[in-house]
Amino acid sequence: LSVSDFGEIGSFCTSNAIEMIVVGPEVPLVEGINDYFESNSELKHITVIGPKKLGAQLEGSKRFSKEFMQRHDIPTAKYQAFTKETLNEGLEFLETLSPPFVLKADGLAAGKGVVIPNNLADAKKELTEMLANSKFGTASQEVVIEEFLAGIELSVFVLTDGENYKVLPTAKDYKRIGEGDKGLNTGGMGAISPVPFADDAFLKKVEERIVKPSVEGLKKDNIDYVGFLFIGLMNVGGDPFVIEYNVRMGDPETEVVIPRIESDLVEVFQAIGNKKLDQVEMKISDKTVCTVMAVSGGYPEAYERLKPISGIETIEESIVFHAGTTQ
Ligand code: AMP
Ligand code: GLY
Repeated sequence: LSVSDFGEIGSFCTSNAIEMIVVGPEVPLVEGINDYFESNSELKHITVIGPKKLGAQLEGSKRFSKEFMQRHDIPTAKYQAFTKETLNEGLEFLETLSPPFVLKADGLAAGKGVVIPNNLADAKKELTEMLANSKFGTASQEVVIEEFLAGIELSVFVLTDGENYKVLPTAKDYKRIGEGDKGLNTGGMGAISPVPFADDAFLKKVEERIVKPSVEGLKKDNIDYVGFLFIGLMNVGGDPFVIEYNVRMGDPETEVVIPRIESDLVEVFQAIGNKKLDQVEMKISDKTVCTVMAVSGGYPEAYERLKPISGIETIEESIVFHAGTTQ
């Protein structure tokens, strides 16, 4: 099934008596899979874990998410947004900043839409490429330029039914392909949970300054949000700032966060569907979980797909996940 073919997903659910769907990737959320299920009389009884199209804009549009944070006083880097028509203003704005420069394509660009040039000339060239030459297609019709935050990144995951929320374990992914955190960026070569430097004092700041105002902000803005809110954070000298929101779980962060949840996740999702998340207790294990990727040679550039893998049955005390493989 294609994740964007809602008609086909809907018929599959009807013919297989599916009662709940948990949406993994961002694209179908941004395209409105939840709205589609809700507006269809045959499908509306199915619980969809994932926000509607409007809430998914927190990931689908950088400008939308920056405006949301600004409106609700959620700490984030200062920014301005520019279009092709305001390219000259954007170039002038760059001159007022000091390097490195953070340029973000507004729309979804498969994780590639953020560019961080180290000097003004490269930043100007990049902004022009994005706005005037559509470097990321329609995703870069608008570009957010923001202040560079120096610190160490981590992620916090929240589950919400729109009224109540639960904070899930923290995780940190490591994105560089090579040993020693070197080489090209990937979607994530591994992850750990919990994050050792996220102590209770820091997490309290995250909950008070970021999680609560985010959930409250969604309510104030009448955005009916159910599902995961993945908050990418920068720890700047002990204070948390939001780098981005995602409206789903992380890949590979899921592999380290979910194994630490001891409560029955299906019951938790059912409680979300009934807007009774406050009535479930989330039991989190104090285990440390680590995931490491073995990838096809060449990744993240050109690489061969559908390779057979073998030997999984001999693995003990670990969980093996695989994707893009074949039997
Ligand atoms: P995003 O897609 O917004 O998460 O950006 C991708 C990556 O760019 C992040 O994981 C950070 O490493 C980096 N980044 C984004 N925004 C900033 C910022 N304001 N300051 C420093 N690094 C950033
Ligand atoms: N690992 C980063 C992400 O899922 O967006």
